[in-house]
Amino acid sequence: MNNWAKLQKLADAGLPPLGDMFASDANRAARMSHQVGGIYADFSKQRITPEIMQALLYLAQEKNVEGKRADLFAGKPLNFTEKRAVLHPALRGSCTDKSIQKLVADMQARTRAFAEEVCAEGKYKAVVHIGIGGSDLGPRLLADGFRANGQPALDLRFANNVDGASINDALMGLNPRTTLVVIVSKSFTTQETRMNGEAVRAWLGQFAGDNMIAVTANKDGAVDFGVEPAQIFAFWDWVGGRFSLWSAVGLSLQLAYGPDMFDALLVGAASMDRHFQDASLENNLPVMLALVDIWNNNFLQYKTRAVIPYARRLRKFPSFLQQLEMESNGKSVTTSGDTSVDTSPVVWGDEGTNAQHAFFQQLHQGTQSASVDFIAVLTDAENRPAHHRALLANCFAQSEALMCGKTETVVRAELADRGMSAADIDALAPHKTFPGNRPSTTIVLNRLDAHTLGALIALYEHKVFVGSIIWDINAFDQWGVELGKELAGTILGELENGSINQHDSSTSALIALARNKASS
Ligand code: F6P
Repeated sequence: MNNWAKLQKLADAGLPPLGDMFASDANRAARMSHQVGGIYADFSKQRITPEIMQALLYLAQEKNVEGKRADLFAGKPLNFTEKRAVLHPALRGSCTDKSIQKLVADMQARTRAFAEEVCAEGKYKAVVHIGIGGSDLGPRLLADGFRANGQPALDLRFANNVDGASINDALMGLNPRTTLVVIVSKSFTTQETRMNGEAVRAWLGQFAGDNMIAVTANKDGAVDFGVEPAQIFAFWDWVGGRFSLWSAVGLSLQLAYGPDMFDALLVGAASMDRHFQDASLENNLPVMLALVDIWNNNFLQYKTRAVIPYARRLRKFPSFLQQLEMESNGKSVTTSGDTSVDTSPVVWGDEGTNAQHAFFQQLHQGTQSASVDFIAVLTDAENRPAHHRALLANCFAQSEALMCGKTETVVRAELADRGMSAADIDALAPHKTFPGNRPSTTIVLNRLDAHTLGALIALYEHKVFVGSIIWDINAFDQWGVELGKELAGTILGELENGSINQHDSSTSALIALARNKASS
């Protein structure tokens, strides 16, 4: 029997409740928790027995996770549908190819020098970062995350969406003379970024030459767009957009927070690269995170995973992970062209404690529950110790409540103690009962600094890669975004000039509605 079938058999046999797993093993939390640098990860509230863990580890071995991991760091063309290497680890020095590392080091020296020059000149008051998807979500996450360690020296704004509100809000109250615009697009063909770039180029007017810079892997595209060649910072086709925040894509962060903070991010990510490369499978955080996800998704049928950072400055982490995980592993074709098993669960979430007052009702008592990644930070960066204690208490309480639940017997006893009548207890008790036995992982950061943030992001990047190996899919392409872009191009032409092509009746009616509105 192969390991997948063995796991299926274990799942089909049924599992003891989580509470019993703890009761029968005093060492469970210690055994199933790992500390790597400033990151502690506790997997003990997952519905996993030692036998299941062993079978998951055998599955990882069978799927050659160790071999593929070596291929990643060696720059093998893992993105086989685009015939590209996948070398984002090189952006933090974790690659053996000296020529690649030289390219990276030269660009880092250039972005550092530029950021220092901008800081010394004091000409700019604001930076507007224009980009979308991988050219936006990572930098936005960092812009919030870095705030835990200091205020930005420049007013850092972002414009991503093609909704005019995005660029309007970003430019509101700014002066073109004192605003530096950074247009970030790997392809430099992305509709949203080009339209926002055009709007900002017009807004900058006479200052566009000096005050508009580009970060791209398509230098010619940026030059054609009107960016001065000397104002273009390169990155390379071997960096996937959603893995690119470590490159010059993070220039806006260097400008606003200084290059030292950005370097600390890279050092933190490099420490996770080393851990991922060196640690045995059973002690390897990215491997463990991926295996737990696969167990929940493919064997226990939890088809969604909520990510709940109990840290306001990580509130963009769920959106960042949505792209990282779902654009990477939201696939259904294997490396050999066959239909895959179920791949990425739906990833979603919001900051705790806000989320508790929004959707936690369903997590605790709904018919469709989810596995949860809780993320907490031990050190209070806000000098509000009472707030911080309450924040941590809520985080730890939620995972405990999801796991332990509350039996109807306990509920009934509590209601009786309050003097409620037997009839009222019968009516109310089922509503106040919590089934429990709902799985979660808790990740605790020692502090929220750039180093730890770098390690955390790299942890999830590698987790995504391990998932793709086991599901046997290519994590590094994203063909699924193309069809919508093509059709939007056709429909845009129709909205602009009249002649409507053949569509289904729904799409035709929607186009007609918009055209009628535009002409009324
Ligand atoms: O549409 C998806 C996507 O291609 C992402 O993969 C990418 O991060 C984003 O668009 C932006 O692309 P670019 O950096 O080329 O503008």
